[in-house]
Amino acid sequence: MALVLGIESSCDETSVSVVKDGREVLSNVISSQIDIHKLYGGVVPEIASRKHLEVVNTVIKEALENANVTLDDIDYIGVTYAPGLVGALLVGVSAAKALAYATGKPLVPVHHIRAHICANFIEHTELEPPFMCLVASGGHSHIILVEDYTSFKVIGQTRDDAAGEAFDKVARVLDLGYPGGPKIDKLAKDGNEDAISFKKVSFGKENYDFSFSGIKTGVINYIHNAEQKGELVNKADVAASFEKSVVEVLVDNLLGAADRYNINRVALAGGVACNSRLRLELENRKGSKQVFYPSPILCTDNGAMVACSAYYEALAGNIADTTLNAVPFLSVELN
Ligand code: KG4
Ligand code: ZN
Repeated sequence: MALVLGIESSCDETSVSVVKDGREVLSNVISSQIDIHKLYGGVVPEIASRKHLEVVNTVIKEALENANVTLDDIDYIGVTYAPGLVGALLVGVSAAKALAYATGKPLVPVHHIRAHICANFIEHTELEPPFMCLVASGGHSHIILVEDYTSFKVIGQTRDDAAGEAFDKVARVLDLGYPGGPKIDKLAKDGNEDAISFKKVSFGKENYDFSFSGIKTGVINYIHNAEQKGELVNKADVAASFEKSVVEVLVDNLLGAADRYNINRVALAGGVACNSRLRLELENRKGSKQVFYPSPILCTDNGAMVACSAYYEALAGNIADTTLNAVPFLSVELN
């Protein structure tokens, strides 16, 4: 039996969790900064770092208490060290290093995208690699072949904006507030998805890259044109039409890549994996494939996914020393 303490602070959530044997969550405390950043329409890195610093020790304490364990019971301390906002990452990394140094427990370096993928293992105990995973969040859009628990191959990725970033930017021009993904998801349900044609970008057969900046610009131009003509914009129609073209290309590439590599299991991960239309579209088009996605609370940033990933990294012998540093950019293939 191994208990892992997982610490996440790469963006705007300070979260700490205790997970048993990689799959059983004993606690998962999430302190979100969304209410602060929404005043600015997006995450302000300097504020994020300071807020992490203010709450990190309390969140660690609460996670241990909720799991009914003490630091003595913990076998590994896992922490997200890459990729993310460097100042934000540093807070979690420093806290984890201090705990590891003080207790003598092994420190496990966790890659944020690997952790998002691992969120799928928590609720789907039958899920094992290999599978094809779409990771779509505020900072990333990747199609990843999960070869093993600690072996990942990038099959496709965005060439410009991340999918979540496109949701957030479109929500901003529609005056819906931050974060935009959940707002567009809700509003789109009242709209006509065929009202406006926003062109989806594909890079051809056997290429699984994404580009979302064209769709985002298409929405901005549509709104500006309507405003110049004094026409009223039906926001629900814009949300539904935008969401349709983004979701279609996400599912095209995920299923296309799975077919190309002969993989019968596909999964979603990252904040955009909460999107109800994405889940529905994948279920409708999956054919004979098995589909997996985490509960919404495990799709957005959380400590449980970090602890889960740390468990498998530790089994593979990936232990860091106290020279571990925050790394803002790092391929998911390296850790
Ligand atoms: O994984 P995450 O919490 O943080 C990053 O690692 O970036 O993802 C946050 C992103 C935001 O861009 C947010 O708008 C998007 O996930 N998101 C959604 C939904 N819920 C969150 N996008 C579409 N539909 C949703 N329901
Ligand atoms: Zn994330």
